[in-house]
Amino acid sequence: MINKMTVNVAGVDFKNPLITASGTFGYGREYEQFYSLDKLGGISIKGTTDKPRMGNLSPRIAETPMGMLNSVGLENPGIDYFIEETLPWLLTKNTTIVANIAGSTPEACGEVAEKLDSTDIHMIELNISCPNVKQGGAAFGTSAKTAYDVVSKVRQKTKKPLMVKLSPNVTSIVEIAKAAQSAGADALSLINTLLGMRIDINTKRPILRNNVGGLSGPAIFPVAVRMVWQVYKAVDIPIVGGGGISSAEDAIEMMIAGASAFQVGTAIFTDPYSPINILDGIDKWMTENNIKDINEIVGTVLEW
Ligand SMILES: Cc1cc2nc3c(=O)[nH]c(=O)nc-3n(C[C@H](O)[C@H](O)[C@H](O)COP(=O)(O)O)c2cc1C
Repeated sequence: MINKMTVNVAGVDFKNPLITASGTFGYGREYEQFYSLDKLGGISIKGTTDKPRMGNLSPRIAETPMGMLNSVGLENPGIDYFIEETLPWLLTKNTTIVANIAGSTPEACGEVAEKLDSTDIHMIELNISCPNVKQGGAAFGTSAKTAYDVVSKVRQKTKKPLMVKLSPNVTSIVEIAKAAQSAGADALSLINTLLGMRIDINTKRPILRNNVGGLSGPAIFPVAVRMVWQVYKAVDIPIVGGGGISSAEDAIEMMIAGASAFQVGTAIFTDPYSPINILDGIDKWMTENNIKDINEIVGTVLEW
């Protein structure tokens, strides 16, 4: 990279603003055959829970125009396995490691955060799109009250920089963002997937065994830009923007909307090299536009 690409999100340094999105890059092992992981700004690991989870039944993936639906259901080996077997390896990769965590109660999320507190992980990303069993299964992130409760619980259990990942399946993203901020979030990431459904017209069965799933990919990009722009104006903590980014231009647009860094997810499934191509494209665009430091563009949208 010729230009200055380093960013800092809530005190955490990233060598460039690109973070691979949780659940779309595993822990990076499969991608190391394509390029060295130290080229990435950061890796957000697959959502990790207190106990191992098998996830939902198959089919768990459905294609959609300009995107995909998934209902993987947080399949993961659990926090103890991650800390013992995967984290030591990940920490040798010379990139910033973000632990994406989830749970079905605020206490379960707090327990995972507490275990990470004594490790060398760089940052925690709390996924509040997961269902809260105590509150009838509605996701924590769909009400300001439950969002506040789960973020406060996790905040009490860890001193690590805490990023809260917001669900877009809400009426007012700003209300939830403010609740997360007041509960002690150091940063926000948005957006997670949008709830969707496909049906096979011949069998009349939903394509996903779970009936519904999360929509990701280029189809959701304008929704993500809109939400990042709204939240940027309403909170004082940094935002990591994501949802449908598949090109350097998309990433730049997301930063202009207000993101200090960005996540790339589904684009990696279509092209494993997309993170590398996006970074090269940003560097080229900066040179062409005489932008020496990527931080200069954050939140610079000129509203009508
Ligand atoms: C197969 C799949 C699994 C995912 N798993 C998680 C997860 O475990 N935790 C989480 O916070 N987000 C998860 N996500 C959401 C992504 O991290 C990302 O927020 C979302 O897909 C939107 O970005 P994209 O359009 O660039 O993929 C997953 C997405 C996909 C497609």
